[in-house]
Amino acid sequence: MKDRQAIHFDFNNMMAEAIGSIHGITEQELRDIESLAARYVKDLKEERAAGKLRFLDLPYDKKVLSKILKTTNSLKGKFKNFLVVGIGGSALGNIAIHTALNHPFYNILSDAGRNGCPRVFVLDNIDPDRFSGLMEIFKPEETLFNFITKSGTTVETMSQFLIITRLLYDRLGNGYKEHIVATTDSGKGTLREITRREGFESFVIPAGVGGRYSVLTPVGLFSAAMSGIDITAMLDGAALMDKLCQSDNIWGNPAIMGAALYFLSHTKKGKNILVMMPYSNALSGVADWFCQLWAESLGKKISLNKEVVHTGLTPVRAIGVVDQHSQLQLYMEGPYDKVITFWTIKRFNKDVSIMDETLSGKKNTPHNELSYLKGHSLNNVMKAEFEGTRLALTEQKRPNCTITLDELSALTLGQLFYLFELQTAYAGKFYNVNAFDQPGVEAGKINAFAMLGKKGFEQRKNEIDILLQKVQEKYCIW
Ligand code: PA5
Repeated sequence: MKDRQAIHFDFNNMMAEAIGSIHGITEQELRDIESLAARYVKDLKEERAAGKLRFLDLPYDKKVLSKILKTTNSLKGKFKNFLVVGIGGSALGNIAIHTALNHPFYNILSDAGRNGCPRVFVLDNIDPDRFSGLMEIFKPEETLFNFITKSGTTVETMSQFLIITRLLYDRLGNGYKEHIVATTDSGKGTLREITRREGFESFVIPAGVGGRYSVLTPVGLFSAAMSGIDITAMLDGAALMDKLCQSDNIWGNPAIMGAALYFLSHTKKGKNILVMMPYSNALSGVADWFCQLWAESLGKKISLNKEVVHTGLTPVRAIGVVDQHSQLQLYMEGPYDKVITFWTIKRFNKDVSIMDETLSGKKNTPHNELSYLKGHSLNNVMKAEFEGTRLALTEQKRPNCTITLDELSALTLGQLFYLFELQTAYAGKFYNVNAFDQPGVEAGKINAFAMLGKKGFEQRKNEIDILLQKVQEKYCIW
């Protein structure tokens, strides 16, 4: 590994030495779970060897990588726009990658500025105004649509599929098929069925890889490759993190250490909110992606022993420095119920120095009140604000830890994705819940199917009708 592409995890301020033992974890508390952690590492390795954790092997799938690169190559220069249609785990990874690695205003760069790659948009919500707005700015003949759904049935994705394919067909006739790539299960689901019938280009979401663990499959990699992102490096980064997280010693394995710290903070110190606060706009999408991964994997009613537990540590996204002027007041002085994880980037891609010229144009005579900024850069200001906030929170005995990326690149992003996925799987072990199902999400999907009149959901529809009749208007205003 090139040293400048590493990531580092500093949890000093989670510990009792820094913030006292009421809010901080003692070394003894960590020592007490060392053997449990070692067992979880062993369990996970066994489950992986038995093929039960396929997301952990994704960085090594060279066949899929080469199919993505080949397809991308064959589509080069053919489209001005690339539109991902998917939701949840089928969208957030795409948003995370593009926000992290593409130019911050990628979609408004010229064709040359984008190296001839298409503009990238992600349609997840079915907000009719947003959908229509986006459709208004596209010429279908210039656009490639990537429909992504693991189940192949999700109502939001499939309703947009119907609208878009009709629009494409009306404009392009049978040639509409050239404008569609489906990413879905290999065998089941409506989208796979239609794909077979119509002959769309397609990718497979591997069996056993759930939506929120699928960013390193074609779900996230295809759109990334279409915009010129080095997906080989991203997978290399993930493989690197795999190697760094092999130890069964909690002190030498950042994934299980992270999971253990959050678990102990929650269950022993009463911190039930996990704030993820990147000091970077580029990482905001990764923080959103993390929030879904963590919430959907660990927010569970029933434990693996079939006990009712209603457990979970609520993730919240904040952005540095913006939320210093918003959420931070609550983090500093509100209830002691949060643990904060900062993410920082040591070297931004750009260095922006703050000029020391006055408005009148004379050099080296800054306005007196602003003279303290002389010689600084936005990079320094960002760093000072991060360090200042971290220090202030620590002084207030607010537990916090910091993940530092030497730089933000495909390689370090791949490391981050893998670290967080593995950490979430370990957290599932500590909480003794299934980190790979989502019964709560499924319940919402079933209700939507029933209310929309899908065949097979008639009984649920009757139940819903009865429930809705009971809803009163007593407590409404207007
Ligand atoms: O992580 C998950 O399983 C969910 O967030 C799904 O990704 C989401 O519900 C979309 O499902 P699908 O990919 O089947 O359309």
